[in-house]
Amino acid sequence: MGPSLADTTWIYGGDEATITETLQNGRPGGMPAFGGQATPDEIADVVAYVMSLSK
Ligand code: HEM
Repeated sequence: MGPSLADTTWIYGGDEATITETLQNGRPGGMPAFGGQATPDEIADVVAYVMSLSK
């Protein structure tokens, strides 16, 4: 149900800081927050992975 993460079109932004914010705190359109379930290191790993998808 989420948007494609493998293109270069972003709703909120594809930079490191914005993706980190999205994963930690979620987004109002239905994206859940993962900040309570993942460590900052784990979030950083997923952010790097998401950024690699749009290349
Ligand atoms: C590891 C799991 C996930 C990752 C890495 C991830 C990543 C992201 C990112 C980066 C965005 C923002 C995209 C943009 O700015 O264009 C996003 C948005 C969104 N995600 Fe996720 N997501 C995950 C899991 C989920 C799950 C489990 C759901 C729903 C059950 C979900 C639903 C959504 C929705 C609906 C949006 C759009 C939110 C809005 O328009 O406000 N995501 N996701």
